[in-house]
Amino acid sequence: MTLNIEVVENPARACGAMLVGAAVSAGHVVLAGGSTPRAAYQELADAVRAVGLGFDGTTLWFGDERCVPPDDERSNFAMVKQTLLDPIADLTQPTVRRMKGELGPVSGADDYERELRDAGEPVFELVLLGIGPDGHTASLFPDQTTLQERSRMVVGVEHAGLEPFVPRVTFTLPRLARSRHVVFLVSGESKADAVAAAFGPNAKPDPHVPSSLLVPLAKEVTVLLDPPAAAKL
Ligand code: 6PG
Repeated sequence: MTLNIEVVENPARACGAMLVGAAVSAGHVVLAGGSTPRAAYQELADAVRAVGLGFDGTTLWFGDERCVPPDDERSNFAMVKQTLLDPIADLTQPTVRRMKGELGPVSGADDYERELRDAGEPVFELVLLGIGPDGHTASLFPDQTTLQERSRMVVGVEHAGLEPFVPRVTFTLPRLARSRHVVFLVSGESKADAVAAAFGPNAKPDPHVPSSLLVPLAKEVTVLLDPPAAAKL
């Protein structure tokens, strides 16, 4: 396992460049939800328009989703559609494997598990993740039983540990780890404690800090941070 910590002024721009590299490889890429990746997806869309990148051979997956309709403002798909898919739709259309959160946590997880199996359980070129102030990643929240799941690739989460407090669908740790490269995109001082607990010199795998559990399972992890998020490393 390789852990790279990169502190940069504009992690979203650095992340956008990594997404370009992964996407043009016509690979399978897993996108993160939340608000931080918005700027990275906009950087990616700008790159597509500026140089005419083609994503037709790329498949986009979702690391987690809220159990809301796909046009709900809390939907991770709606955020990706607004920041990336719609702005490039006239130029290129990647294959989008939407996580159907509207089915609910159990059926939504079963549906996505089936979709992954039908796709041949691809190894992901890049998995993009965020981290919450509580150390969660995707919708894997502290001390929940989902952290112990080792056979399923996707599980339902009845009780989210952070807003929005709606049920979720999420990849499990082993499935997130089955990728060539895991990238955490983190900004803001509110994440500094979680970053130190998950990736710092004294960090150790801890169910109270779910992101810390992914590090030993993954092949290569890059943590892109702005200075405030790195303040306690
Ligand atoms: C979600 C995300 C979640 C997110 C972190 C950070 O569905 O909310 O998958 O894991 O990455 O909560 O969110 P922010 O980028 O909004 O701080």
